[in-house]
Parts: sequence; C-alpha cells; structure tokens
Amino acid sequence: MSDVPLSDFGRKFSAASGIYELMEDLGQAVSTGGDICMMGGGNPAHIPEVEAVWRRRLREICDTPGAMETMLGDYDTPRGRPEFLKTIAAFFQRTLGWEIDAENIAITTGSQAANFLLFNLLAGPSAGGAKKILFPLVPEYIGYAPQGIAPGLFTAWKPRIEMLGAHQFKYRIEFGDIGDDVAAICLSRPTNPTANVITDDELQKLSDLAAARGLYLIVDNAYGEPFPGAIFRPARTVFGRHVIHTFSLSKLGLPGTRTGIVVANRDIIRRLSIMNASLVLASCSVGECMTQPLFASGEVTALVHEVVRPFYQKRSEQAQAWIAEAFDDALDWRVHACEGAFFLWLWFPGLPISDRELYERLKKRGVLVVPGSYFFPGFDEPWQHKHECLRVTYCAPPDKVRRGIAILADEVKKAYAV
Ligand SMILES: Cc1ncc(COP(=O)(O)O)c(C=O)c1O
Repeated sequence: MSDVPLSDFGRKFSAASGIYELMEDLGQAVSTGGDICMMGGGNPAHIPEVEAVWRRRLREICDTPGAMETMLGDYDTPRGRPEFLKTIAAFFQRTLGWEIDAENIAITTGSQAANFLLFNLLAGPSAGGAKKILFPLVPEYIGYAPQGIAPGLFTAWKPRIEMLGAHQFKYRIEFGDIGDDVAAICLSRPTNPTANVITDDELQKLSDLAAARGLYLIVDNAYGEPFPGAIFRPARTVFGRHVIHTFSLSKLGLPGTRTGIVVANRDIIRRLSIMNASLVLASCSVGECMTQPLFASGEVTALVHEVVRPFYQKRSEQAQAWIAEAFDDALDWRVHACEGAFFLWLWFPGLPISDRELYERLKKRGVLVVPGSYFFPGFDEPWQHKHECLRVTYCAPPDKVRRGIAILADEVKKAYAV
C-alpha cells in the first residue's frame, strides 16, 4: 500500500472490503477459466430468450437513424433520459398503481450507486446529531456494508428464526426500538442473500413505523416486482412520500449497462440528481435506450412472467432437490425458505469450522460460494449463527451447480466428521 498520507474518507474507502474481495475472487475465477463451479456472486444467469431480446434491441438501435448516435454520443441529464423517465413512470403507474411522474424518477450508475447516494444523503453527521441506517433484518446485502462515508453508519435488528419442517427455516423481523439516531430503514426484498421475502404485514408495519417517526423506508427491489420478477410468491408493496424504492436492470440480464432506477418524492430525486451530476455527470444511457420500448409496450412484463421468473423458480427447485439428495438426514442442515432472488442460504447448525474456513476449503476444490458472515452489516454482536451459513447461487450451468453441491456436501460432512 502507498505511503501517501490518506484522508479519513480515503482510508475507509480504499481499505479492502468484503464486497471487493468477493468481486476480485469471482472476477479472477471467471478470467482464469478452468473448471470452476461458480456459485458465488450475484451475476444473473445467461438466459438465451432474454439475450435474444437484447440482440434484437441492439440491431434495432443500430438500424434506426440517429438512435445509436444519441445513445453513445450524448450525455443524458443527471436524472436520466427524459423520454425514458416518462416511460418508466407510466410503467410503474400501470403495473403498481403508483401516482408518480417523471419527476419522481432518477437513473443512477447501477442501484449500488443509488444505495451509496441515498445512505449518505440521509445518514451520517448532521446538525441533529449522527444519523444511521437501520437494517430491520440481517442477514442483508453484503454490498451495503462498506457504503457509509461516516463510520458506524449502520445498525441492525437481530432476526427471529422460525424453523420450518426438518430442513427449512425463515427469518422473521423481531421489531425492536428505533433510536432517535435512525434516519432511514432499509431492506432488500427479495433479500440478498437469504431469498427471504419479508411478509406484506412486516413491510406494512415498517412503513407505518417510518411514516409515524418521520423516517424514510428504502426498499431495494433489485430482484423484485415488476422486474426482474424473481419472486416466487405473491407480495404486496408499500408506497408513500416516505418510501424510496430502488430498482435495477442488472438482474433482468443487463448488469453491463449499470442502470439503477430510484423512485422517490421530488425532493429526494432532485437531491440525488445533483449528487449524480457531481459524481458521474450523467449515468450510462445504454440500459435506458435498450429497454425503453419494452417498458412502453409492456413486453418486459411478458418477458418476466413467461421467461425470467419461471427460469429462476425452476432452477431454485432443482438446486434444492440436489441439496436434499446430497446432504443426508444424519446431518443437521437447513435451507432458508426460497421465496425469490437467485440464491439459496444454507445453515449448518453447530458447524465445527467457520464459514470462512469452509469457503477456503471449497475454493481449493474449485467451488466458489460466499461465506455467510459477510452478510451482517450493522450487526456487530457476537452470534455463532453468523459463522454457520453460506450463500450459493444457482445461476451457473446446471451440471456445475449439481457438482458444486456434491462437493459442498462432501466438505461439510468432512468438517462434522472430525
Ligand atoms: C440487493 C441488491 N441490491 C443492489 C445490488 C446492486 O446491483 P446493481 O448495481 O448492479 O444495480 C445488488 C447486486 O447484487 C443486490 O443484490
């Protein structure tokens, strides 16, 4: 590392974080090729029917006079492309019944950047004291953990664990006190890493609490409705001046376009767009240009219902069946109820080695997963459960997922046998 004296911000932001190490590991594994079972990361699957749509759209853009030139050759406004903002606002109105217009939308460089901007817009040192973001349920998305500019930006509630049958479980929100230092409540739904979809009642209660306390509720819909729709049971959402929704084109199959979409009240949107201008001038136009006609015509909804959701649901069921086959009943293993997203969250109660040691052993055998203890942002209490879980995705080709699960079962059994 350099000898140059760093600022506090520089030191905090350039220190290795869980998400950085994970992305490095995954990137290395992909670039070196080899026979890796890639069950880490959050890459969407390559779905041929979806990729055919992107191919078609790229051709249409190239064949439409002026379309390619403006997509690549012009800066958008700091909020996004005016035409896209209107189209997506109308789409949310139609699909979710929200009373919004283009002024309620901002486009960011991926929803990762949207989270960063929102967290630091709302929380941190302020005239009213240092404010925090509350995660009402952990495990929660690893990518939130390093995002606070101020130290200690996050706080979290410990969940209640509900056992379901012999080999399943589900986290429930254990509602606690909301301190005066909380500025906003945030959750991903479906949740990365657990595939949990917090219930409609839990979400409504959080929304009511936030409204009553004058706080924001940030709902991260990276996997949710109305796109990419990787959600396997009906779920109602919430809306109001105090609710901020984030969306992403990544999990629909366009992570390379880095397109995040924020829906919020006009004040938040105006502030976000000013921050966006300082940071990146304008977000990338490609995702907006690729998808605008799909949102205008509703083709995206057909794609979600007929292709994307069934694809992930089938993959999830298949992976769960392979897990049940590979882990016998002699072992205590549990999978979180898989209600959406691209993941299975495995819990090995009493695991004799740590999740990180298991990760390393698996990596040596060519299987990449993500150790569970990374997924507890804002929750520093010692809790053995944090070190007994792993996240796996089932987006890789099925033969690799099946092999990865077999190797995982073998390593877990070896760990218990010692
Ligand atoms: C819950 C959640 N939110 C946000 C993101 C960020 O996605 P992107 O920046 O590609 O929109 C991810 C990516 O994995 C995620 O899982």
